Amino acid sequence: MGELSAMQAFGNELIPRERFTSAEFVALEYERLWPRVWQVACRLEEIPGPGDFVEYSIGDHSAFVTRTATGGVRAFHNTCIHRGTRLADGCGSFRGEIRCPFHGWRWDLDGTNTYVQDPHEFPPATPDELRLREVQVGEYGGFVFVNFDADAPPLRAYLEDIPDWFDPYRPERMVFTSMKTTIVDANWKVVVDAFNEGYHIPAVHPEILKWKDDAALEYTPLHTHTRYGGGGWPMPSPRLGIPSEEVDEQEILLAKVDDLIDNLPGYIGPSEAEALRAQARELPDATSAGEYYLNRRRSGAVARGLDWSHLSDEQVLGGDDLLVFPNFIGPVVAGAFFGYRVRPNGMDPDTCIFELWTLEEQPDGAAPKPLPVREVYPDWRAHEWGLIVDQDFQNFRGIQRGLRTPGGPGLRWNRRQESCVRRFHEVLDRYLFGAPT
Ligand code: FES
Ligand SMILES: [Fe+2]
Repeated sequence: MGELSAMQAFGNELIPRERFTSAEFVALEYERLWPRVWQVACRLEEIPGPGDFVEYSIGDHSAFVTRTATGGVRAFHNTCIHRGTRLADGCGSFRGEIRCPFHGWRWDLDGTNTYVQDPHEFPPATPDELRLREVQVGEYGGFVFVNFDADAPPLRAYLEDIPDWFDPYRPERMVFTSMKTTIVDANWKVVVDAFNEGYHIPAVHPEILKWKDDAALEYTPLHTHTRYGGGGWPMPSPRLGIPSEEVDEQEILLAKVDDLIDNLPGYIGPSEAEALRAQARELPDATSAGEYYLNRRRSGAVARGLDWSHLSDEQVLGGDDLLVFPNFIGPVVAGAFFGYRVRPNGMDPDTCIFELWTLEEQPDGAAPKPLPVREVYPDWRAHEWGLIVDQDFQNFRGIQRGLRTPGGPGLRWNRRQESCVRRFHEVLDRYLFGAPT
């Protein structure tokens, strides 16, 4: 631990860059972080019927989540109890029972063994010994979480104040509008950190300053998770120094709507996007962009059968960026969620597995929608992610390579705008080093 504990962020003014580059640090995370935290494995709508399954892997750990015959949800370690073969690969359906491809042993969807070939040739075993080994599973907001630690506290306790922030948007009514996976060339924490602050907006996304008051973002590090938000009222960033009488409300309204729809596709759900865009072209005289945007979004929701009456103006205008520690992060706004799930890529500290999930709220009684195609891009450059995400992706390689520069000094984090980044690393140190956070 000697050398490793030198990589703590907690209590340090300057943050050791080896946290992002060292193979030992990756190994420490696999030992102390990933087996102990609740992680999003899938959404309920991915496993609608009995036997539908989704595999979730993190390093060598692998679980599959499945729907039982009675409609429950269970998760099992993804390994045969006979000679270890993996039982589930990706996603699909077990068709009534779980069957090992190697020697054909079978289990029902509750994990009870139903078939062993030539059982009399084995030493006697109890039904319990022949069960699949269960992984803790929990549900929140339509998301299915797993925890590989059998003694971990329940999901609800782990989520702490996340539901206070997330519940109003009713994630349980949302369904996927896109599911994309790629490999990004940076450590998984570089990616989480980049989506956990708006401090990089002026340098990386300067075009959005036209309508985004980045200075108004508020950062709310929680006990384990983090939240930032605010600044949703469309107006130019004060950094641009545009006198208020020179602000063209029609122009900033269009800039906001076009940017959100074209450059962050899925942030505004597909059921709303084009109607909103058309309306944004017709700002009446003497109406502010913010007031109009708010009213059009609210009346559009009513027309689509959605009840946003409990949502604050800020929740309709700008929403919240939430990090469910450690690796599920993204903006949620009235009607939609734009979430990133980030995982280390094997033992490689320099790349990570990145998924973008977009979801949209459905009205009561809506017909179930088919899942979108699962898009997989082994190289992120093979796909257009929308300008704003592309801009972030383009940065990652340079950040990671810069972090590798030998002899570089410790990192410095802005006390306000990077307070959520800092919090994330402190909580990480709670798991890795027992930091008293
Ligand atoms: S390894 Fe699964 S049945 Fe033999
Ligand atoms: Fe960004």
